[in-house]
Amino acid sequence: MYSHPTAVIDEGSVIGDGSKIWHFAHICDGAEIGKGCNFGQNTMVAGGVRIGSNVKVQNNVAIYTGTVIEDDVFLGPSCVLTNVTNPRSQVVRRGLYEKTLIRRGATVGANATIVCGITLGRYAFIAAGAVVAKDVPDYGLIVGVPGRLVGYMSRHGHLLRFEENGHATCPESGFVYEQDGEAVRCLDLDEEQALPADLSEGAKSYDDFKKGIHEGH
Ligand SMILES: CC(C)(COP(=O)(O)OP(=O)(O)OC[C@H]1O[C@@H](n2cnc3c(N)ncnc32)[C@H](O)[C@@H]1OP(=O)(O)O)[C@@H](O)C(=O)NCCC(=O)NCCS
Repeated sequence: MYSHPTAVIDEGSVIGDGSKIWHFAHICDGAEIGKGCNFGQNTMVAGGVRIGSNVKVQNNVAIYTGTVIEDDVFLGPSCVLTNVTNPRSQVVRRGLYEKTLIRRGATVGANATIVCGITLGRYAFIAAGAVVAKDVPDYGLIVGVPGRLVGYMSRHGHLLRFEENGHATCPESGFVYEQDGEAVRCLDLDEEQALPADLSEGAKSYDDFKKGIHEGH
């Protein structure tokens, strides 16, 4: 574990091997963080929060009590999590924090807001600036205010274009995905399995993939 000298790591917090805590971050008493995570500048993890391994938290993100974050989640810069639906300064609701569950591999875009009490499914993708107030299915792409389900993103973060047979192929991994109503799953790799090492490093930009799709390859 590495923590920058300006970070405040409370006694009673648990931080796994290989995790890095950067400038002015605060990890509170009772927070549990897994292995190989990265917490950027000015992040905060409150007591009682549980965070898995390989979670990447960009600058200026506060993770409040009531939040559970599984492995491989990406929280974009300045995104907002919440833990009381109806806060009033005059009414103390300590201990009544609502649960927000962010499941394995999900991405929350920059400056997006997650209203508490919901679940973001595995590999869900929340666009920059979206406001999400409802559960999101696995791989669901949510855009806008209020956030709407506009499609599905592959594990590698590409829009899935489903054909008539309900199948779509990710242009980066070649994995085939199947849609059945709102449910999408990967036919080639179980959602709970780790990515093979040869598919864990990007070689081409998002724009290059988009151009390739328009040019038909
Ligand atoms: C959602 C996202 C992946 C879409 O990317 P894309 O496929 O390249 O989207 P496009 O640029 O082709 O836009 C498609 C449409 O969606 C709109 N759109 C794109 N991103 C949007 C967003 N975040 N909110 C609202 N609308 C958005 C575009 O204006 C466009 O609308 P139009 O069809 O009416 O012209 C991307 O915009 C995004 O938000 N990524 C997250 C980035 C981020 O937060 N990174 C954090 C780490 S630095």
